[in-house]
Amino acid sequence: MRKGSVSRRRFLQAAGAAAVWVPSSVKGYTVAEMRSLSAEGEIQEDISKWELDTPALCVDLDALEANLQTMQRTVAANGIASRPHAKTHKCPAIARRQLESGSVGICTAKVSEAIAMFEHGIDRILMTTTNVTSVKIERAMGLRRWCPGFIQATDTAENARDLSEAAQAIGINADVVVDVDSGGHRTGIPPGRPALELAQLVDRLPGLRLAGLLCYDGGSQHVQGFAERRARTLDRVAPAAETKVEMERAGLNTEIFSGGGTGTYNIDHETAGLTDVQVGSYVFMDAQYLAIGGATDPEVYSDFEPSLTILTTVLNSQYEGQVTTDAGAKACTINQPWPIVKGETGMTYRSGSDEFGTLRYDDPSRTYRTGDKLELIVSHCDPVVNLYDQMYAVRNDRVEGVWQIAARGMST
Ligand SMILES: Cc1ncc(COP(=O)(O)O)c(C=O)c1O
Repeated sequence: MRKGSVSRRRFLQAAGAAAVWVPSSVKGYTVAEMRSLSAEGEIQEDISKWELDTPALCVDLDALEANLQTMQRTVAANGIASRPHAKTHKCPAIARRQLESGSVGICTAKVSEAIAMFEHGIDRILMTTTNVTSVKIERAMGLRRWCPGFIQATDTAENARDLSEAAQAIGINADVVVDVDSGGHRTGIPPGRPALELAQLVDRLPGLRLAGLLCYDGGSQHVQGFAERRARTLDRVAPAAETKVEMERAGLNTEIFSGGGTGTYNIDHETAGLTDVQVGSYVFMDAQYLAIGGATDPEVYSDFEPSLTILTTVLNSQYEGQVTTDAGAKACTINQPWPIVKGETGMTYRSGSDEFGTLRYDDPSRTYRTGDKLELIVSHCDPVVNLYDQMYAVRNDRVEGVWQIAARGMST
């Protein structure tokens, strides 16, 4: 066995309690029952997560809280702030905890997501995606009218003019940041003169207030190895940092210089002038991030604990060397690496089939019978969350709450 896979397995075993065998005769609670039992998201009854109807999305509160603390401790020690991306969790209960733990605001990727967050009481929102159609621009500026803490990204002069017109039409002065490309050419304007000129235009346009810039380096987040990731992201974000200096020289407002993500959260403060990290996945972690390696452990990215899991039930165990579960692509997505069975070793999970998961035994730490439940660490957290209307908040296996994923499906 490769050294890497041994270390990874050890970590994952340490990360979670072994799966508990639950007889199929357990009553089980449906989503509707759990919702009716919950008062303002909280559950008073003693219900074990193993009694939940499956597939069920669960978040372990101890792990989630540890992740929030690790992030805040680190950014505070590094002299920057966090502005977590709510596209990861789409859940106001988590956004609230992030703000309470010291984040300066949240980010959203879609205007509908931003509106859902605002409707649930979150009022410091940076929208990192440019809105280019009139319907979206009007919705964004309409949100800004009621939510003074809403900030919109832009990356072209034409778009800035459209924002300005929409803002003037409803008599507001909207905060805008210039999105600067980190080299991936996905979004943003090139750094240097183009970005500077756009910032100057935003500063001049009526109805807009320049709040600074953002530069998200998505291409570096999953680079394997801390040293490689560090070298790459510092190189790629440096031109945006120079642009910020040029903006300052030109007398422009640069109070926000936002960027970074879970893979670079403890590197981004080395970029001169960066104010906050737009970290998303750190709250949950997933198999994709666990695989990239960290500063202290080159094999496993163990800075954060996997808090998000899918509970699934074994449907068929009558064939040698494998079982079939009820969590396939519609419960887990088909992202890879595939989900990991929490707390167990010597088995591999596949969620390629729409309705069914397949668990194959290699050298299994245990085996399962029909009706047994097991727990999966998700492959990639963002798209998995988007498959569920609620997540169960769990501590020591007891369900403490039912949290609405209020921005689930908000993709416009
Ligand atoms: C613009 C932007 N900022 C921040 C993030 C958060 O990244 P992560 O989940 O890697 O922390 C993303 C994720 O794709 C993003 O697109």
